[in-house]
Amino acid sequence: MKRLSDVDLMGKRVLVRVDFNVPLAAGAITNDQRIRSSLPTIAHVLDSGAGVVLASHLGRPEEGVFESALSLAPVAARLQSLLGRAVRLERDWKQGLDMRPGDVILLENIRFEIGEKANDPLLSKRLAGLCDVFVMDAFASSHRAHASTLGAGLAAPVSCGGFLLTSELDSLDGVICSPRRPLVAVVGGAKVSTKLEVLESLAAKADHLVLGGGMANTLLLALGYPVGASLAEPELREKVMALTKLTEVFCPHDVVAARGQAAGVPGLFRRTGDVRENELVLDIGPSSARKIAALIGQAGTVLWNGPLGMFELDQFGEATRVAGEAIAESSAFSVAGGGDTIAAIEKYDLAGGLDYISTAGGAFLEYLGGGSLPALSALG
Ligand code: 3PG
Repeated sequence: MKRLSDVDLMGKRVLVRVDFNVPLAAGAITNDQRIRSSLPTIAHVLDSGAGVVLASHLGRPEEGVFESALSLAPVAARLQSLLGRAVRLERDWKQGLDMRPGDVILLENIRFEIGEKANDPLLSKRLAGLCDVFVMDAFASSHRAHASTLGAGLAAPVSCGGFLLTSELDSLDGVICSPRRPLVAVVGGAKVSTKLEVLESLAAKADHLVLGGGMANTLLLALGYPVGASLAEPELREKVMALTKLTEVFCPHDVVAARGQAAGVPGLFRRTGDVRENELVLDIGPSSARKIAALIGQAGTVLWNGPLGMFELDQFGEATRVAGEAIAESSAFSVAGGGDTIAAIEKYDLAGGLDYISTAGGAFLEYLGGGSLPALSALG
């Protein structure tokens, strides 16, 4: 892949596909990590004597319809204050842009454009027409073969990977291809079915696999333990058992159950095997969480994706907190990614202890699962 540092940018018009798909609440950005992570690429382009056009999506609007709640206006304002220079938000850019070196232009939400998701050739050409150099820096969107992620890269005269994209790939490759052993993979989440490929790929590489959330319930069920009324996927028993043939899959010996899932509902400590019919398993138990922490303490590399329990409710967040703190404190090389994981990292203030936190959710999982990232194919 051609890298940004290999390309001469002096006096050029540079289009950077960034991922500014940030969380918003009542129009305000609640986490600007994705914007901050793009700053090194943007600063490099500007420092090299070029003008920069940024393209991103925000949410999943209907194409062809402007939706003010999904406008990139709050992002333009935040970027302007982070960069300390003017950022022009452009809604009408298809006939071209007036741009000089040093200018920063942000295109309005690219998913308002008809043809973005279908990778329409005309839209791709129009995007490519805005630049001399296309830089793909949206690792978090690189699993999407859209006009702004793939088509524009193929149509542009020169295309390369930006600093964020390449550092994400380098970090994940290090974990996947040459991890310091033992490699402990901690994977939580509601359903095995949504992460099956990732689990299979990781089970083949990791020395230990720790499952959390509804996935741990499916494991318990597969091993013959009752899980009451918990979220679980009995039809995936065999698939989960197949994972246990590939690697050491940690089986919790205690859990936190409850008779409902709401704030204030008390957690009931149960030995695995003692869960009643009317109970839901909502977290891994304290004794098992300590065992997981010990496993992490011995690791050379830890890969973390997904909480271990329903951490949004404090009484079911302990296993996630204990495992997260063990990851943050361990000397292992630690990599984490995924939306819920980032929320847990924030809730328990763990960011400082992790070696690498990916900005991606779906792309992170796709890459770990051995899937392809189509947008990379344009970066010759
Ligand atoms: C993400 O948040 O994972 C990326 O921005 C991709 O968003 P999408 O799933 O809507 O394509």
